[in-house]
Amino acid sequence: MPDQPVRTMHLGVFEVASPQVGGTLSWSHPYSDSVRHREQQHWIDVAQLLEAAGFDFLFFADGYGYPSVGGDLPEAAARGGLNFTGLDPMLLIPTLAHHTSRLGFVVTSSTGIDHPVAMARRFATLDHLTGGRIGWNIVTGASQDTVAGLFGHTELTQHDTRYEIAEEYVDLCLQLWEGCWEDEALVQDKESGVFADRSRLHRVEHVGKHFRSSGFFTVVPSPQRTPVLFQAGTSTRGREFAAGQAECVFLQGTTLPHAAANVADIRARAAAHGRDPRSVKVLVGATVTVAATHDEAIARREGFLAMQTDEVASVIYAGNTGVDLSVLDPDRPLSQIFEGGADARIGQMGQSNIDRFKRPDGSWPLVRDVLDELRGRGTRGFTVVGDPVEVADQLEEIMDVTDVDGFLLEAIFSPSDHELFCELVVPELRRRGRLPADPDRAPGSGSLRERLGADSPRVRADHPGARYVPVPTPA
Ligand SMILES: Cc1cc2nc3c(=O)[nH]c(=O)nc-3n(C[C@H](O)[C@H](O)[C@H](O)COP(=O)(O)O)c2cc1C
Repeated sequence: MPDQPVRTMHLGVFEVASPQVGGTLSWSHPYSDSVRHREQQHWIDVAQLLEAAGFDFLFFADGYGYPSVGGDLPEAAARGGLNFTGLDPMLLIPTLAHHTSRLGFVVTSSTGIDHPVAMARRFATLDHLTGGRIGWNIVTGASQDTVAGLFGHTELTQHDTRYEIAEEYVDLCLQLWEGCWEDEALVQDKESGVFADRSRLHRVEHVGKHFRSSGFFTVVPSPQRTPVLFQAGTSTRGREFAAGQAECVFLQGTTLPHAAANVADIRARAAAHGRDPRSVKVLVGATVTVAATHDEAIARREGFLAMQTDEVASVIYAGNTGVDLSVLDPDRPLSQIFEGGADARIGQMGQSNIDRFKRPDGSWPLVRDVLDELRGRGTRGFTVVGDPVEVADQLEEIMDVTDVDGFLLEAIFSPSDHELFCELVVPELRRRGRLPADPDRAPGSGSLRERLGADSPRVRADHPGARYVPVPTPA
């Protein structure tokens, strides 16, 4: 039998406009330059580096919250800059788009804060300003307790309700992006003086459980109309949401079988929604530490590990899950958090980062083992360390065993890890046929959706957004 052709991988970089990324500590290390996150030039340099190397996109995580323990900002979070402080990355995108021509940009925005009309308008604007290179990472929002406090909400919306809200939120956005303007509605003809054809504009009427909207979308159609819809959050409810509406899922893998099971589950759920399961791209987080030689890579990784402490791990974990590991009995299993009198927020803030520790047989590790695992790991996915050949081998193995479509690289030292990956690993992956031969190749019109494998900049016919596309009014 002839060998199967190797699957090419999609590559993105996971970043955050903040000193800290991935639930670990490294901004103060000499190899890190992330304190420059407030400078536009810092991000322009990163974007141009990734574009030249043929990356598909630069991804920004984001959120309004910060870690809290006992209802307050822990001293360690402020001292260590641990998921505390950050800029709004959306405002960087027009600048970065202006200084690049092919790279996509994905921005995280939560469905828990403002009205869908505001979100739809911002992303439609970004789709214009990037020439169709924008994606939205839809999240229900981390650090829900501090976000609720900041926005004056008196109650924490329950985990599954947040996903129900997210589904309706995205559905209304889809109506606004896809349903209001026929393709021919924008005339913009100076000679006749006609800007838009009123007969080809359709009123959106939405009366839902959580949102209402009646009227016309005021942004003219952009190249993709709907930004590429990403999703992160792998609880059962999160995967179901992803399977219905996401086009790309960002997964955090801990072990190969765990990631493989999640990928298979997401694809099966997508098929059950009547979608082509392969059209949903699944990307897994990977922390790659590469250097010219194996020993140099190990030394680099050890420099990072030396900075990690139980305190760092506990504070960041509390921000993601509401679980304060530092007050638990280290010699008993993590499942003690579910015992009588437990904090009601547990499981309501985020389940992915709790579930990832549950063993296949349903048992739970000791809290001290959880801390060991989190130290240096934080919320990161796979750890890959070595020389360029070793790194390429490991990435290929992850891809082939789990069936993911590619990786989101989570640097420990930014941007120097990106530079090393582009210089050392990208040529090796290209040589193996894992990256397209030509990094300049921009498929189709160069939209992010086409970069990620679609044959048009618009949502596929089997995506729920397509049902809102109006039947053209006869001329
Ligand atoms: C891989 C991954 C990345 C995430 N990135 C963000 C982010 O950038 N901003 C945010 O507010 N929440 C982020 N979240 C948290 C989600 O918003 C969500 O609140 C949380 O994961 C709870 O959903 P779950 O129980 O399905 O995991 C992320 C979650 C995962 C698993």
